[in-house]
Amino acid sequence: MAAEPGEEINEKNPRPLDEDDIALLKTYGLGPYSTSIKKAEKEIKEMAKKVNDLCGIKESDTGLAAPSQWDLVSDKQMMQEEQPLQVARCTKIINQNSEDAKYVINVKQIAKFVVGLGDKVSPTDIEEGMRVGVDRNKYQIQIPLPPKIDPSVTMMTVEEKPDVTYNDVGGCKEQIEKMREVVELPMLHPEKFVKLGIDPPKGVLCYGPPGTGKTLLARAVANRTDACFIRVIGSELVQKYVGEGARMVRELFQMARSKKACIVFFDEVDAIGGARFDDGVGGDNEVQRTMLEIVNQLDGFDARGNIKVLMATNRPDTLDPALLRPGRLDRKVEFGLPDLESRTQIFKIHTRTMNCERDIRFELLARLCPNSTGADIRSVCTEAGMYAIRARRKTVTEKDFLDAVNKVIKGYQKFSATPKYMVYN
Ligand SMILES: Nc1ncnc2c1ncn2[C@@H]1O[C@H](COP(=O)(O)OP(=O)(O)O)[C@@H](O)[C@H]1O
Ligand SMILES: [Mg+2]
Repeated sequence: MAAEPGEEINEKNPRPLDEDDIALLKTYGLGPYSTSIKKAEKEIKEMAKKVNDLCGIKESDTGLAAPSQWDLVSDKQMMQEEQPLQVARCTKIINQNSEDAKYVINVKQIAKFVVGLGDKVSPTDIEEGMRVGVDRNKYQIQIPLPPKIDPSVTMMTVEEKPDVTYNDVGGCKEQIEKMREVVELPMLHPEKFVKLGIDPPKGVLCYGPPGTGKTLLARAVANRTDACFIRVIGSELVQKYVGEGARMVRELFQMARSKKACIVFFDEVDAIGGARFDDGVGGDNEVQRTMLEIVNQLDGFDARGNIKVLMATNRPDTLDPALLRPGRLDRKVEFGLPDLESRTQIFKIHTRTMNCERDIRFELLARLCPNSTGADIRSVCTEAGMYAIRARRKTVTEKDFLDAVNKVIKGYQKFSATPKYMVYN
């Protein structure tokens, strides 16, 4: 860093650092062996990675870490420190909002206690009527608990958004439009409804023959929305014991109400929504009770509250009229057979990811499958792929598609349920 003779060094005009200087600066503040230690660490890491790669990835079927990584001693210590808590209900808060607030808790089948709070909870966390966890010695409240909801109901929440978008639904323009109007508009612009003084529609019933995209569209809606999406399959609500189904519906809506915005989708609702009739045995009463609880819940909640109910069925004629009366499910959206343009579009959607020959005449193909549903067309595409695999080709040709149309549309006509269901819709 020695200044060359003759060169003036002053504060205002410093000489730029050269590379040696920077290298020197970088060693400041480092211990004598730090570079070699770093190097050794890096080498160890690389070696460990190499060993791992050589061993290959092994799935452990128990989901546990490798035994070499167990730390039993510290686990044991942790278990001893953290005693299991007991569930209680906080029934009353005495002297709320003051320094020495006390809490009345009710431990089921033991007794009632007046207790204080543990160290880890703040007074704002605890409300009257809440479930809480208490320790077993002093019965202090250690943790606030969420309301008790049947785990099978909690499981119905769709957490991972399905990867279906509106672009994956061919045709159905009108249906998409109607569905979005009911589901998205009231959630995004509630003020429009308030201003006009009308209640937004609460729910939509989708009906139509099987395979016309009812479930598909619901999945697209679930993908689009940030609201919580709960999917219930009708038959899941049919339970073994009397009153269980109705209780599940109640807990379902209770859970829905606890969310900011929520969409509940009942698929195959004819499993529970069948018209009431007397079969003289009473076996179906339970199913009817479940349905009545749904009707009750549809009436019960505030329409401007952000719960929307979607239902889908193949047999709208069997549904109980009470379920369909305006004010409960106001909107009815019919899913018909796709027209020529929609069929072409559906062909294009399903071949999007396929390795096809160029310039396949999808319109011609669509013309060859009159009266077929989206599901039929999807099956044609799969079948065409199978023909290509059988011929050991890597691309699907138009001939494969034509063969597939022959096989699926003509050959399986016997099995097609569409005409049967068209009668009901
Ligand atoms: N309009 C459509 N556009 C694209 N694919 C469709 C369409 N309708 C049906 N399908 C295909 O058919 C399959 C079954 O449709 P789905 O929605 O489950 O029928 P359902 O109306 O009986 O609930 C879907 O997974 C999709 O691949
Ligand atoms: Mg379906």
